Amino acid sequence: MLGIILAAGMGTRMKSSQPKVMHQLVSHPLLEWVLNSFENLIEDKHCDKIAVVIGENMPKVEEFLKHWSLEKGIEVQMFYQKERLGTGHAVKMALPAIERLEDNEPVYILCGDVPLIKSETLQKMLHENRRKDTDIAVLTVEKKDPTGYGRIIKTREGYIKKIVEHKDATKEELAIKEINSGMYLVKASWLSQSLNHLKNDNQQGEYYLTDIVEWIDQNGGKAISVVTEDHYEVSGINNRYQLSILEKVARERINKKHMMNGVTMIDPDQVYIDPEVLIEPDCIIEPMSIIKGQTIIKRGTVIGPMTQIENSTIGENNIVERSHLSGVQSKNNVKIGPFARLRENTILEDDVKIGDFVETKKTKVGKGSKAQHLSYLGDTTIEEDVNIGAGTITCNYNGFSKNKTLIEKEAFIGSNTSLVAPVRIGKGSIVGAGSVIVRDVPEDTLAIARGKQSNKENRASELKNKYKNQKEG
Ligand code: UD1
Ligand code: CA
Repeated sequence: MLGIILAAGMGTRMKSSQPKVMHQLVSHPLLEWVLNSFENLIEDKHCDKIAVVIGENMPKVEEFLKHWSLEKGIEVQMFYQKERLGTGHAVKMALPAIERLEDNEPVYILCGDVPLIKSETLQKMLHENRRKDTDIAVLTVEKKDPTGYGRIIKTREGYIKKIVEHKDATKEELAIKEINSGMYLVKASWLSQSLNHLKNDNQQGEYYLTDIVEWIDQNGGKAISVVTEDHYEVSGINNRYQLSILEKVARERINKKHMMNGVTMIDPDQVYIDPEVLIEPDCIIEPMSIIKGQTIIKRGTVIGPMTQIENSTIGENNIVERSHLSGVQSKNNVKIGPFARLRENTILEDDVKIGDFVETKKTKVGKGSKAQHLSYLGDTTIEEDVNIGAGTITCNYNGFSKNKTLIEKEAFIGSNTSLVAPVRIGKGSIVGAGSVIVRDVPEDTLAIARGKQSNKENRASELKNKYKNQKEG
């Protein structure tokens, strides 16, 4: 089976320097959504090759397709349509791929700018085509206002006789509400033969792909329509307003899937989740939460409000409130935030607490350790049951290179301490508040590195009087 995707249009109405199909819908290019709709068929071993018809100057699309093909291990061939002479002409560019197929091998034709097509619908087209022993299935939809679309003209037996474009339609044909979605399933030999007979004698002077239906009907083949109720799955995107509408629909579908799977959302309209995110049951996602990329959230965890998490694995029964996490791994019963910023390679073991205005990077925090307020912890290993006082800073950068800090178990770091790396704080040690630690602290040691305190009695009121007199002249 072959899947063809038409993506040669730049999409001028997007008013963009990048091709339309590279615009993102829920963090993935439109083209990727269409490719992924084939993916389930590929898993069922129905579809094993993909051909994409693109325009000549689309290096970003080429790069993306190469990457996708490698990642999925699926053959993707690119064909170039130099001049946009119509949808039929576009599919013709992929003839070399079509002619390699067996006569009866099915070919899907989809559009790169129609992203929400479901793989179940593609499967249904295949199923119907087999069950009714027909040669082409056209995905259609009933529109209250069919203006602009190709109309489905049927025979008395209910087969499709032809598809007539709006601009070429008669008054009676214009009254038909069943329209062509532009997506098809057709047997390979019927496709290649009918493509070779296309003409451009129509209103727009284009080679219409839709004309293959009439050719197939006239040459003894059978065409059926498969109707979908879901208007969004056949909706194409031409401008950024339409993009935003489908973005909302796609997000709603993702959120619904999670809710049906046991995740509570206080207000799903304010929850933004990428399609690849996994969330286990009994999690609660509070409003204004954004969860992106390769993220897993385990059972019983509460996210938000106002939290962004990307490419992270969050353990069971965590609370992550008003924080920003990227590249984090947390184990169970961890509490993060409000107002924490956890960056790449942050690892938090069980029962860790990271509080407000704490930033971490390349840092591992051992079981039960706490950094509750106002700290920067970078390139640091913190063992179990350590307390990091408010305002502790690991000075990991000397202007040239990064250096490491090790804080061994049960150590206590007093508030407002600078730990100048590389440095080690030994097991069970105490660092006095306000210290600047530049040398290693051995086990069970009290380290104090700050100016000694001196108290001058009555000096406060004396000073105040002096300044008062100076001001009054
Ligand atoms: C097409 C159908 C119409 C259907 C409508 C649904 C034809 C003749 N008409 O019309 O019956 O109701 O889709 O949206 O097919 N493309 C190319 N190269 C080209 C022309 C188009 O790659 O030379 C690609 C476009 O980028 C797009 C797809 O083909 O992804 C459909 O093209 P579009 O111009 O939107 O087709 P319509 O004229 O709207
Ligand atoms: Ca269109």
